[in-house]
Amino acid sequence: MKDTMGCSALLLFGATGDLARRKLLPSLYALHEDGLISENLRIIGTARSDMDDAAYTEMARAALAEFLPEDRKNDEALESFLERIAYQPLDASSIEGFQALADKLGDVSGGLAIFLSTAPFLFEPTIKGLDSAGLTGSHVRIGLEKPLGNDLESSAAINDAVASVFSESQIFRIDHYLGKETVQNLMALRFANMMFEPLWNAQAIDHVQITVSETVGLEGRHGFYNDTGALRDMVQNHILQLVALTAMEPPANLDAASVRDEKVKVLRSLRPVRGSEMVRGQYGSGAIDSNSVDSYAADLGEVSDTETYVAIKAHIDNWRWNGVPFYLRTGKRLAERRSEIVIQFKNVPHNIFAERDGRLNANRLVIRLQPEEYVRLQVMAKQPGMDREGVVLREVPLDLSLTQAFAKARRRIAYERLLLDLIDGDPTLFVRRDEVEAQWRWIDDIRAKWAASNEAPKSYGSGSWGPSAGIALTERDGVSWNE
Ligand code: BG6
Repeated sequence: MKDTMGCSALLLFGATGDLARRKLLPSLYALHEDGLISENLRIIGTARSDMDDAAYTEMARAALAEFLPEDRKNDEALESFLERIAYQPLDASSIEGFQALADKLGDVSGGLAIFLSTAPFLFEPTIKGLDSAGLTGSHVRIGLEKPLGNDLESSAAINDAVASVFSESQIFRIDHYLGKETVQNLMALRFANMMFEPLWNAQAIDHVQITVSETVGLEGRHGFYNDTGALRDMVQNHILQLVALTAMEPPANLDAASVRDEKVKVLRSLRPVRGSEMVRGQYGSGAIDSNSVDSYAADLGEVSDTETYVAIKAHIDNWRWNGVPFYLRTGKRLAERRSEIVIQFKNVPHNIFAERDGRLNANRLVIRLQPEEYVRLQVMAKQPGMDREGVVLREVPLDLSLTQAFAKARRRIAYERLLLDLIDGDPTLFVRRDEVEAQWRWIDDIRAKWAASNEAPKSYGSGSWGPSAGIALTERDGVSWNE
């Protein structure tokens, strides 16, 4: 249930980092400009850098100048936003500085929201430090940004540390895909329309494809990315959340508990993947938008066997999805930036047009999440004509452009929604511990199989759709990726 307690302060750990500058500060500014957060909410940043309030405010000003879209820039709103901001330097690895942080925060009995975006090794000392300075208790909730560990064991250790001072209802685990409007729209599409749900199962659906492809490469995150790889960076969280929302049963209602109960059932039904049903790749040199780009090894400055691409044929072992493969893929330096879910329906049971040479393609529903936002249903129609040479049937799109239908609605970045929900205490769009752990269990098994096989990732040209083995993964089932 949404709890109605607001907050008088938001404490941002990692306040000088990339995420804070690119996403969190611009999101908070947008919430401020739109009057969505209380006038009394103070924002206190903390990080290692030794800065005073004025210096941090200037850093925030520079970040907003760089990362806010032009149509968001408003001098008056900017100045009043910056007045909310303060900063306290802190070395979170030692307990000493936390009392000064608590002093800086002052009275937070009106509610405190903490946003933790720090390196994984700082989670436990930070929790201890917060506890020692009295920054816990029922008026506090804490948002945790990934990476929350790098396998089930380390993730459980972090969860245990957090659980030692906060109850699960105070813990808000962030997966920024859940903050995306189009991802939330998946539930509306499935459960606010009569026509899809009766067909949303193994009787009518042949397979599902989920693609999250990017054209960017390492983007300066060398150490982090090379230790993480595409499976843990993208599949463990974002893609599995998309799988869960696509495959779950209708929840009893929109309560956090009901939605998360249904998602976790899907995650627990994921069948361990066989070695032959997964592909790892790593980008070589090539071209993106006609510009030549280097290989992963050249970007990194060393040879590595970290994967920048993964494709998996997944199976959900339950009644609804029996025998329906979910083909999943993600990668860096691919041909296009695209996130989409494709529902491929089966053929009609009998083609009455066959004897007049009419060929049928099975219906396909494409839910494009980004960069465009649309839902497109491919249906068969008869091409106009006298049919003397046979009936010509053609696939035509039934198109719903969400960008056009909601042209007047402002497109918000995912963190605006998530920060607001954290401040307001609504956990629906955050990931519960049992979900995260079910995700890790499935991922750890894949990693163990990779480690045992000792195979290097397959190379693919930058700007392509990945290694040929990723194409073969579907083609040998007679299925083509939607490209
Ligand atoms: C992050 C990953 O979680 O998601 C990045 O760490 C990735 O590697 C990013 O680029 C993609 O997010 P979006 O919102 O641009 O699809």
